[in-house]
Amino acid sequence: MHTQLPLWIDTIQTAADTRQLDDLKASLMGKTGTVTLALKNLGQLSIDEKKAKGAEINAIRDALIAAFTAKFDALTTEAINKKLSAEAVDITLPTRHAVGSQNSIGRIHTLTSLMLEIKDFFYKRGFTFAEGPEVEDEWHNFDALNIPSHHPARQNHDTFYIKTDSLSNMNEEPSQLPHSHLLRTHTSTVQIRALAKEKPPLRLISFGRVYRSDDLDATHTPMFHQIEGLVLDKGIHMGHLKGLIREFCSTLFGVSNVPVRFRPSFFPFTEPSAEVDIACSRKDGKLMIGEGGDWLELLGCGMVHPNVLTNCGVDPAEYQGFAFGIGLERLCMLKNGIIDIRQCYEGDDAWLKHFGSFSF
Ligand code: DAH
Repeated sequence: MHTQLPLWIDTIQTAADTRQLDDLKASLMGKTGTVTLALKNLGQLSIDEKKAKGAEINAIRDALIAAFTAKFDALTTEAINKKLSAEAVDITLPTRHAVGSQNSIGRIHTLTSLMLEIKDFFYKRGFTFAEGPEVEDEWHNFDALNIPSHHPARQNHDTFYIKTDSLSNMNEEPSQLPHSHLLRTHTSTVQIRALAKEKPPLRLISFGRVYRSDDLDATHTPMFHQIEGLVLDKGIHMGHLKGLIREFCSTLFGVSNVPVRFRPSFFPFTEPSAEVDIACSRKDGKLMIGEGGDWLELLGCGMVHPNVLTNCGVDPAEYQGFAFGIGLERLCMLKNGIIDIRQCYEGDDAWLKHFGSFSF
């Protein structure tokens, strides 16, 4: 591997912009990156081999981190300097656009208008809005949702834990810290928050930011948005869930009776669980949603697990219900043909003019 290091360093040093650098970093040191995999594979070696190989890979990783940091700083400084010299503005001049023209007023960000559109769909069907905090505790994010501490799903969530005041040694390994507070990894927390305040029957919808210590690339960001839904009443069954989701997909994509597939899946907080796929096809490299023989994954859902209801003081023999969770950015990208999630947060004026709207 050390023979590749000079080439990698060279590629880092000649990266044209921070985006290229992020992609490169993900491919080398991301979850499935070359260096990460090499470190993971160490486990299969003998102790002696592990010592030698481990030291080599760690040295490579340190060299890469140093190169990435240096290049990132250099590119950022260069970009700021370029911007400063190009943007010498005479702030005493009047604005170029006539007041009141469409160019001089802002637009609604495409993520915001999608949230409003979805809110509108559910409000018309008797749902109310519920909220929860972004800084959560383990009970609301995991335990109450039937994800106990030994459950592998906890590891899969790549959680950002928050260091508490009781921390005396800042160099301690994160795994040894008292894990009480965290940035919520999903909006399913709101189910628990809502049930602490209200008792069924209820229909609620929520959306907001969630956080995962994930790679940063065209399809991942450490912060994104989710939409959560919960319906609890007497006699609610999977048929209600399927009907609602079908109608939701048809409305959202403007295709009546859009083909939708419920694929068996697993979530600790629902039983049975399903993932919902929507029909699509790719013609001349263009994605068409609502027709064709391919399927695109859209959301997760299921019947609320009896343990979750019991944890919230609701008798599962009396009330049943369903829940669903949707990644907002993914939906927005599919709907608008956006291929890089990072564009959603860059605040680029031309991009906002193109994808933004004056109303939803
Ligand atoms: N919380 C899940 C996630 O972040 C998404 C989800 C799946 C939410 C199924 C739900 C559900 O309410 O029923 O991956």
